[in-house]
Amino acid sequence: MRPAAPILLTPGPLTTSARTRQAMDLDWGSWDEGFNQLTASLREQLLVIVNGTDSHHCVPLQGSGTFAVEAAIGTLVPRNGKVLVLINGAYGKRLARICEVLGRSFSTFESAEDAPTTAADVEHLLHADPSISHVALVHCETSTGILNPLAEIAEVVARHGKRLIVDAMSSFGALPIDARQVPFEALIAASGKCLEGVPGMGFVFVRKEALAAAAGNSHSLAMDLHDQHAYMARTGQWRFTPPTHVVAALHEALLQYHEEGGLPARLGRYADNCQVLLAEMDRLGLRSFLPAAIQAPIIVTFHAPNDPRYRFQAFYERVKAKGFILYPGKLTRVETFRVGCIGQVGRGDMRAAVAAIAAALREMQVLEL
Ligand SMILES: Cc1ncc(COP(=O)(O)O)c(C=O)c1O
Repeated sequence: MRPAAPILLTPGPLTTSARTRQAMDLDWGSWDEGFNQLTASLREQLLVIVNGTDSHHCVPLQGSGTFAVEAAIGTLVPRNGKVLVLINGAYGKRLARICEVLGRSFSTFESAEDAPTTAADVEHLLHADPSISHVALVHCETSTGILNPLAEIAEVVARHGKRLIVDAMSSFGALPIDARQVPFEALIAASGKCLEGVPGMGFVFVRKEALAAAAGNSHSLAMDLHDQHAYMARTGQWRFTPPTHVVAALHEALLQYHEEGGLPARLGRYADNCQVLLAEMDRLGLRSFLPAAIQAPIIVTFHAPNDPRYRFQAFYERVKAKGFILYPGKLTRVETFRVGCIGQVGRGDMRAAVAAIAAALREMQVLEL
């Protein structure tokens, strides 16, 4: 039996529209000209969103977001390069782990999970170690929802003649990023985040000259973005079996993105979701982990209620029974849970989700409202 569709308040997979899901109700052949046109159209539209048509290529890659991040690092960082990895959460740590596994030399700079990495930090670090060739940064660190100052850090990296690789997985499409203003070598995102497609493909915006110079860098056949791009440029096709349904769904999701009003409208809706969520949770006495000034309108981390009767798993199940899927916290120091603001959801859904959270906590006798 098909379960009733819950609302996912998780940062990918997330709630998609019926129209996006219906776009998957067709089987495409990988040689089909119509399918190749979908891919070409996607790549062009994605470049327009980042204002990178002149400067960058958009290289799609099968797999979850991490595949694309790993492919970007493996393709763009030469074997004698060195990456400075900026960390203030789990996805920053994952960047370092990728460098380690790929055998790329790297150093890390870790700040607290509730403190953005600053441009001054990066300035200092680049001065101290001239052997650094690349800097890797997570734009919105989804493990807490913190926003790192991409534009300021990009300016420092460029001034030092270094190359910036940005994991913009959970911010691209909602938070403005303009390739003409913000210099970056590569920026990575995926289908199932703020564009509201389904998960299954990542994409990397790569500076054209950097991609041309990256032949032979990659440790891997399947993860080589230079090859992937060269093959696509030559044939119009994906190099290996394409995620056909994911591509079709993302194409449909992009039509809706434009109909909604593009990036400003999407940001507006997510910011509104976030405001409503914070205000309603505050009324229940549930505190957010981050101060408002560094909170991205993508996902919010809340402190768990300080009550021995609270257990995340039981809380999750009760909220799920009321139609909403939450996310566990990703912090080791404090007990938290997370609520996403992204996906095909609006303020009414956020209010209903908070009502479900309140009811669940009352049932657990954690909340006495
Ligand atoms: C900042 C960030 N980086 C990378 C990823 C990629 O993770 P995955 O491979 O699970 O899609 C995510 C997914 O949520 C993310 O939020």
